[in-house]
Amino acid sequence: MELFKTIPQVRQWVKAQRQQGKSIGLVPTMGYLHEGHLTLVRRAKDLCDAVIMSIFVNPTQFGPQEDYERYPRDLERDLRLAQEVGVDAVFAPEVEEMYPPGYATYVEVEGLTEVLCGASRPGHFRGVATIVTKLFNIVQPDKAFFGLKDYQQAMVIKRMVQDLNIPVEIVTVPTVREEDGLALSSRNKYLTPEERRQALSLYRALKLGEGLIRQGERQASKVREAMAKEILSQPLARIDYVSINDAETLNPLEEISGKVLLAVAVWIGSTRLIDNLVVEV
Ligand code: PAJ
Repeated sequence: MELFKTIPQVRQWVKAQRQQGKSIGLVPTMGYLHEGHLTLVRRAKDLCDAVIMSIFVNPTQFGPQEDYERYPRDLERDLRLAQEVGVDAVFAPEVEEMYPPGYATYVEVEGLTEVLCGASRPGHFRGVATIVTKLFNIVQPDKAFFGLKDYQQAMVIKRMVQDLNIPVEIVTVPTVREEDGLALSSRNKYLTPEERRQALSLYRALKLGEGLIRQGERQASKVREAMAKEILSQPLARIDYVSINDAETLNPLEEISGKVLLAVAVWIGSTRLIDNLVVEV
């Protein structure tokens, strides 16, 4: 497996793959790899001849009060896991490689970014859209792989690729969970054992919401209330949002119909966790 720190190195590797007639898959990550990331890689290996993973904790997608500094990092471990799962190349640049002095250009996706995490994390999706555009321009992959754990992120990237005519196919992969339902996340590392236990309330609330909808409840407020109650039964939980949105437009819904997104963002102690479920009625 190759490890690259600079953009010219990546471009050279990409050129060599192209000369061998290989298709290229890109898996963008912020590292501290877990089975969710590795599942994206396996899908990429199924669909592409050569797979490159980026590992970069992107400062522009973190707010000033957020966890950029303390975000978990362990490149050595990541490289071992990436190699084991069969990644061909890792791009792990320093911040200066991606944002040199004088850097001034950002990508804004309107509409989709104004709800859910976009509302509670101003500037977050501007940072995501910008770094992903840069990675697409550096690698020029045939396909890029995103997890539905970050459902809104995947929708924003799809919109951006369509609007800016970026020639890449976005492939999405279902959320990977622990056996007890907790969605895998690098941020789970922050949780104490007691917080880890209380964090299960996110998935319980989503399943409860799904159950109510399947039983015929169509009033979004009723479903949201039941979900919130489930989460707030945990003393360390504080709700950022509990939301029911159209799964395509992400518009908040009052009346449940069609394909809907149940989405939650919850603080467990000092850790903000997100999870979601798509339900079709
Ligand atoms: P990160 O949180 O490291 O996630 C990298 C990719 O892994 C994303 O596409 C995310 O949706 C996916 N992923 C994370 N947890 C998952 C799970 N439990 N199941 C399935 N997929 C999962 O998302 C980012 O990094 C960044 O915003 C990035 C896109 C790299 C831009 O900086």
